[in-house]
Amino acid sequence: MKRILFVCLGNICRSPLAEGIAAHYIAKQSLKIEVDSAGTSDWHAGESPCTNSIKVARQHGIDIASYRARAVTDNDKIDFDYIVALDHQNMSDLLSRGFHNVHLLGDFGGYNGEDVPDPYFFPGFEGFEKVYTMIERAVHDFIEKVQHESI
Ligand code: 4NP
Repeated sequence: MKRILFVCLGNICRSPLAEGIAAHYIAKQSLKIEVDSAGTSDWHAGESPCTNSIKVARQHGIDIASYRARAVTDNDKIDFDYIVALDHQNMSDLLSRGFHNVHLLGDFGGYNGEDVPDPYFFPGFEGFEKVYTMIERAVHDFIEKVQHESI
């Protein structure tokens, strides 16, 4: 069993989407992979995903409404085989906290190392569609590579 942790800043917008998309893909293909998500901050610990993330996931048949935000912990270093950061800031925060095996989501799915943009301050819903598409492509590619043990 491989374990993957997706990490953004608040664990309410981007990484819950990554977790939900990954869990859906894993279940559909009956893969032996477990996923979770967390934030580098504890600012939103205990909260549900943001409304627009719940909405965009639901439009794609994925229910993330029951997810609750949490901050990363030192135990995550032991518990997860792969840590996946949603942007470069998340990545450098994780590295400075002593996490190894940290990957950047934007290095997968043909995104050439782009950050998954932080949609927290987006005025409308449109940004979430773009973020959803990017996360979906990159997460699917990442999981395929984990499954084929090429990372
Ligand atoms: P996330 O989005 O990192 O994708 O969950 C954010 C959520 C909250 C804040 C920033 C980004 N915040 O500043 O509170």
